[in-house]
Amino acid sequence: MSTKSAAAASHDEFNRNSLFNMKGRVALVTGGGSGIGLMATQALAVNGAKVYIVGRDKSKLDRVVSTYNKDIEGEIIALQGDVTSKSDAASVHLTRMLAAEASENEIKVRINSIAPGVFPSEMTAEESDDYQKSHVPAEKYAQKVPAQRPGRDVDMAQAVLMIVANQYVSGQTIVVDGGYTLAAGL
Ligand SMILES: NC(=O)c1ccc[n+]([C@@H]2O[C@H](COP(=O)([O-])OP(=O)(O)OC[C@H]3O[C@@H](n4cnc5c(N)ncnc54)[C@H](OP(=O)(O)O)[C@@H]3O)[C@@H](O)[C@H]2O)c1
Repeated sequence: MSTKSAAAASHDEFNRNSLFNMKGRVALVTGGGSGIGLMATQALAVNGAKVYIVGRDKSKLDRVVSTYNKDIEGEIIALQGDVTSKSDAASVHLTRMLAAEASENEIKVRINSIAPGVFPSEMTAEESDDYQKSHVPAEKYAQKVPAQRPGRDVDMAQAVLMIVANQYVSGQTIVVDGGYTLAAGL
């Protein structure tokens, strides 16, 4: 048996701790101080990554660090800053264009994106609590989304880990919306 076959037969590389191990990785999460950015930050840091979180309001970033940078394999570091956002409508095209550019120029960078349905955040709930977490009423979305609820933190965390860990996904937009676009015929 080849060494690779023997490794596969041992099951080790198929274990979740190997498949989604973020140890040794460094991430920069813009908007990591709340909402979806904070969900991504926790997914990466809990599984071993060193995560720099960027936002304009330093007090939000500091609250995230004091609340979540403990009992984790990785690390969360606050980095105050302002970035310019891009138009959402163009993001699927932009993802493919940037990924194609990188590939044509033999730059070993994968570019993917996540298109979320409704997730609790400062944008959707207009506030967050002492944990920098937001809440939207589930019943509000019971009729609007096939999943009959808004997205949960772990729904986003699973998508983030997949898109980061899977080195064979490139130029893709992963829709995480509880079936909303499917039901809406989009
Ligand atoms: N939540 C949803 O249901 C949903 C659905 C579809 C798309 N999205 C998109 O997902 C992204 C994240 O939003 P969210 O829903 O998680 O809302 P959010 O809780 O408001 O998060 C946005 C974060 O980005 C930071 N930010 C905003 N402008 C910034 C700037 N110029 N420079 C640096 N940081 C900046 C904010 O912190 P500061 O104010 O401190 O800078 C905030 O922590 C947005 O692009 C949003 O349009 C969200």
